Amino acid sequence: MSNRIWLPAMVTWRGTEDGFVTPDVHDIYVRYAMGGPGMIVLEATGIRDVASGPLLRLSHDRFIPGLKALVDEMRANGDALVMPQIIDFLKIATRKTTRAFMESLVARGQLSEALLGLSDAEFERDHSRHLTPRQQRDFLYGYRQRIEDLDLSEIRRIPDWFAAAARRARACGFDGVELHFAHAYTMASFLSVTNGRRDD
Ligand SMILES: Cc1cc2nc3c(=O)[nH]c(=O)nc-3n(C[C@H](O)[C@H](O)[C@H](O)COP(=O)(O)O)c2cc1C
Repeated sequence: MSNRIWLPAMVTWRGTEDGFVTPDVHDIYVRYAMGGPGMIVLEATGIRDVASGPLLRLSHDRFIPGLKALVDEMRANGDALVMPQIIDFLKIATRKTTRAFMESLVARGQLSEALLGLSDAEFERDHSRHLTPRQQRDFLYGYRQRIEDLDLSEIRRIPDWFAAAARRARACGFDGVELHFAHAYTMASFLSVTNGRRDD
């Protein structure tokens, strides 16, 4: 590194809805490069080829040309080392309306159909009587998949996704990758003291 200034990963939400680099992404990272830090870590970049809004992705070869052009332009504007932070995250959904939540549980056989006779306000008031603790959390905050929900065959695929993303990062010309092991995402969840899995 040319100096000790390290720019940490900060998501910009400037990618396209399907994870490609945009001119706005170029603008911000080229400006960072011109500032002259020793290291620039590119924002959390997804390794799983799933819809993830404007988050950048390294989950398929189709993302290589855009990221390669970005690194090339950053290199032309400074001598920073550059590497993407690669991230895996599980499914997450926004909170459903009370009625939609009730109906989805009934459809899955997890709630008695008779409860659909309650008004939304009645269900909201007494929801803890009808729902398991996990369902209460999903009701109040939206569904969030947890590592306890993954079976071993799903877990075994995760290292390969990280490795494939790292190989693509090399093909783009990055200097390395940073692994996202924080903030309650997949890898941090495995390390958490609250991880109750017994098959590790
Ligand atoms: C807008 C914004 C986006 C961020 N995005 C990421 C991210 O993509 N990955 C990550 O690990 N941390 C992310 N962070 C956390 C920063 O990297 C973190 O604040 C940084 O490491 C500085 O740490 P400090 O506040 O302890 O100095 C983000 C922070 C901000 C403000």
